[in-house]
Amino acid sequence: GKDGYRHYMEKELHEHPVAIGQTLQRITDPAAKKIALPALPFDAASVPRLTISACGSAFYAGMVGRYWLESLARLPVDIDVASELRYRDLPLADDGVALFISQSGETADTLGVLRRLKEAGQKIVSVLNVEHSTMGRESDLVLGMVAGPEISVASTKAFTAQLSVLAALSIEFARSRGTIDSQREESLTSSLLDLPSRAAEALTRGDAIRDLARIVAEARDVLYLGRGICTPIAHEGALKLKEISYIHAEAYPAGELKHGPISLIDRTVPVVAIAPSGILFDKTASNLQEAKARGARILAFTDSKGAKQLEGIAEHIVVMPDVDPFVIPILYAIPVQMLAYEVALLKGTDVDQPRNLAKSVTVE
Ligand code: F6R
Repeated sequence: GKDGYRHYMEKELHEHPVAIGQTLQRITDPAAKKIALPALPFDAASVPRLTISACGSAFYAGMVGRYWLESLARLPVDIDVASELRYRDLPLADDGVALFISQSGETADTLGVLRRLKEAGQKIVSVLNVEHSTMGRESDLVLGMVAGPEISVASTKAFTAQLSVLAALSIEFARSRGTIDSQREESLTSSLLDLPSRAAEALTRGDAIRDLARIVAEARDVLYLGRGICTPIAHEGALKLKEISYIHAEAYPAGELKHGPISLIDRTVPVVAIAPSGILFDKTASNLQEAKARGARILAFTDSKGAKQLEGIAEHIVVMPDVDPFVIPILYAIPVQMLAYEVALLKGTDVDQPRNLAKSVTVE
């Protein structure tokens, strides 16, 4: 049941800390602060290229994974949504590895790509919540998320569990390829192991998130902006808002604003920024300033340092706990999903069963 929560989605949002914690428990050695994945069915040190494919939220998790694998493990990564990759005539590397991400393990397009790339001789690794699924049976290796059943049609805790697995896999690749030393592995692993507490802290930001929700709920169109590893989180926020509140939202890398979407901006189009402090912060802040100068109302997710710099630019700010930059996308996914939930509550939609959507998309 819903354990006293109003919707499964609300319950499952509150399960982020447990989903992350249980997932990490399976794939880390907390005492040694090391990653402890099952043996990989290939030599991670010599993999020439990784192809990632998934749909919807799982695809955005894959986009985050690409940033980690490129920057930590120096691994060339190709990624595309499954409905596209399925029909692309992709040049594949011999000894290449294909990585699939799926909550259900049954999504038709993702399974279609899996079968095609397996046929083409790629090693198949799947990150799945339902391990005893069709994708599970057809993979060379299944890396399980331990998110527990996800009932709400809109994905929540499975997303942070997926990211937790991808983070661990990126560290594993980096260690095998000699691109991080053991001290760095320990500090990255510690930042992951610290996440359940930080996620619980993020769940306490409801009041601030409701301030944003009241503005978003009045809008017909919303723009989500991020940069770098936060761009996929902007996409996740926009997707979730569309799914459950039926408000049109688009996500853009903040730097693309002036190449088109800025023409949309006026006071009726709120801009939601995923903008933690860090090397890209000043660039995002100046994009937000440009949007504000054109009348946009700016709503931001940032940390205490970023909040100081966005005073005077952002109308409302959700101040997130300080964490290692490595885990930022995992942490910031939580309030971004919460925002969509709060807006859906204000709109009075059928949160757990949004129109036209099914939990598992088993037809192409
Ligand atoms: C978003 C959502 C969908 C799924 C997508 C993939 O909230 O639920 O976009 O993420 O349909 O489903 P799985 O992960 O089961 O392959």
